[in-house]
Amino acid sequence: MAISYNERERVFRLDTPRTTYLIGLADEAGFPAHIYYGRRIPDDDMRYLLDAPDTPYGSSREQVSFLGRLPSEYPGSGRGDFREPCLRAETAEGYGACCLTYVSHRIFGGKPPLEGLPATYGGAEDCATLELVCRDEDMGLEAHLYYTAFERLDAVCRSAKLVNVGAGPLRLTQALSACLDMDGQDMDVITLHGRWASERMIQRRPLAWGKQGAGSQRGISSHEANPFIALAEHTATQSRGMVYAMNFVYSGNFLAQAEMGQEGRVRLIMGIHPAGFGWRLAPGEAFQTPEAVLVCSDAGLGGMSRTFHDLYRQHLVRGPYKDKPRPSLVNNWEATYFDFDTEKLLAIARVAAEAGVEMLVMDDGWFGRRDSDTCSLGDWTVNERKLPGGLPYLVGEVNKLGMKFGIWMEPEMVSPDSELYRAHPDYALQIPGRAPALSRGQLVLDMSRREVRDHVYEQIRRVLSSANIEYVKWDMNRPLTDAASPALGPDRQGELAHRYMLGVYELQERLLRDFPHILLENCSAGGGRFDPGMLYYSPQIWTSDNTEAIDRLKIQEGTALVYPLSSMGAHVAACPSHTNGRVTPFATRGLVSLPGCFGYELDLTKLSDGERAMIPGQLADYKNYGWVFRTGDYYRLASYGENGTHDALMAVSKDRRVAVLDYVQVLSRRTERTLLLHPEGLDEGRYYRRLDTGDIRSGAGWMYGGVPMPRLEGDFAGCLVVLEAADH
Ligand code: GLA
Repeated sequence: MAISYNERERVFRLDTPRTTYLIGLADEAGFPAHIYYGRRIPDDDMRYLLDAPDTPYGSSREQVSFLGRLPSEYPGSGRGDFREPCLRAETAEGYGACCLTYVSHRIFGGKPPLEGLPATYGGAEDCATLELVCRDEDMGLEAHLYYTAFERLDAVCRSAKLVNVGAGPLRLTQALSACLDMDGQDMDVITLHGRWASERMIQRRPLAWGKQGAGSQRGISSHEANPFIALAEHTATQSRGMVYAMNFVYSGNFLAQAEMGQEGRVRLIMGIHPAGFGWRLAPGEAFQTPEAVLVCSDAGLGGMSRTFHDLYRQHLVRGPYKDKPRPSLVNNWEATYFDFDTEKLLAIARVAAEAGVEMLVMDDGWFGRRDSDTCSLGDWTVNERKLPGGLPYLVGEVNKLGMKFGIWMEPEMVSPDSELYRAHPDYALQIPGRAPALSRGQLVLDMSRREVRDHVYEQIRRVLSSANIEYVKWDMNRPLTDAASPALGPDRQGELAHRYMLGVYELQERLLRDFPHILLENCSAGGGRFDPGMLYYSPQIWTSDNTEAIDRLKIQEGTALVYPLSSMGAHVAACPSHTNGRVTPFATRGLVSLPGCFGYELDLTKLSDGERAMIPGQLADYKNYGWVFRTGDYYRLASYGENGTHDALMAVSKDRRVAVLDYVQVLSRRTERTLLLHPEGLDEGRYYRRLDTGDIRSGAGWMYGGVPMPRLEGDFAGCLVVLEAADH
């Protein structure tokens, strides 16, 4: 069992293959305190790291600074710890101090699910869980702190359940998921920032006094910030150095923050953003926070990425496509926008089928009177003017071509110009008496309400049952504003944003339950909800509306820092790019899309003969090598974001017999010497044949000598280099 309790030391230890996490009960009172997290150590007696005074808390005249200095596992507020708390709560009278002390604990194999929330999962053979029960007696508030340590992965997953065990009502105003109080200030803070069409840009800056981090109050995890934060040693690289990371298994408002304060420690926290949050707890009621995943790597950022990838592929993603190849697809959005009909779609499908593409996805515009983005969201009935014979005919014809069929929907939205809104204006999020703010001309449905979800679901169910639909792109194209629900009552408006997320999760769960064969791809105006919460429901997510290959390099690098390549929707799009006007070779666009869930986002009927002829080769690469990216170990060999000239990523199969290196020369290197890239993760003693040249060398030779890149002509060129075990 990866978790144990040393009664003499009053210390809990959580071990993963290369890390140890120690929690101590400080003072006689039993404050849950953080002792150690880092490289694996055999010792339990590390309490000196608490740096706590000898005077018992009960008889101390300095109780405030005692708590102010104590490294805490789940800090309360108002009693002396003035750093960002995990927990703030109020009594019915509005009194707010709270501080937790130990009550009991339980250690068991496996991991319980979090009701209504996405979360990592695992059986007793995969992981063990500590449930640490603490309480503030005076307030009547109990916290169940859950820690799951994985047996084969250096990850610890945390969440908290807060229970009102008193006689009166309580109100939570801050209920975060995890806190890590650490020593060490010579660190960098790494976060993923961005905007629409430029999601998950890596930002690395020195840790400084005060608070730094990322957060979203948009009701979605957002394009602007991703629920990820890491502290890395200044000297940490892709392959060396200590990194501590947190990622939030949630898709709504969040706060991820590093705080350096006077006590000389760093506090890393993760949880639901406290701004506007409030949750009423009647006696006996409980609130479950979403889960935060903690990863500690002593093998640099690459080690961190590979742990996240393995954890999410094995213990977060579910369903039949978890370990299966994802179908290559063609999506008509950038091919036709709203201007299509059955014939146009079938013309694209015929070219696609001939080239070997496996699925046609019909994007926005097939329902209601939707010929532009001004109407019809909420009216999920087929527009028979565009699609005579409806879905049965279209899907039947696509299936006859040997292709699967997928469909776009935006279930969380309503257009003011729609049958749904005319019939039920109250279904939209709004403050009574105040016109809700439009975004993309649309409003958000109140997903906290059961009857709204039931109405939407009934429409989805009818569409999906009407034909052989095997894929759904679930879109969500605007942030939440006017986030109020008259149905909740005046003292519960602070619950709306979280209840909204719970509603969305419940709806997606229903869809998966009733249509278990469907491949779901989440999307939010591109990558506005690219987070682990969504990955629990959909094994892949649309990475960005920016489909231009060179911009995509940075977006995909930032995404892959945390999320597995198997989760990234990546399509070859038209040129000049609809996003930025850049012209890049068709082959390079293929190389950039190859490591993700591959597809085309253009009108295949308009390609030149030469381009069309390249499709079978690209699909063959996807078939032959896509699985290495999807299931293997990811190594970032060169970052265009850092060097401005070239990009290279590599995946090595788990049995280390195949390695695929995807290289893009962004700017010509004609006058420079041959570029050597140094692979990682090969077997030093095994021999590998480089397929394009036939050269055979040991893994050590390739890794330490380097793999020379071919001399490519011009800007935006690229190639795939495959190394295969020579004893094949
Ligand atoms: C969003 C998605 C796009 C496309 C459009 C359709 O922007 O990210 O891929 O589906 O909506 O309106």
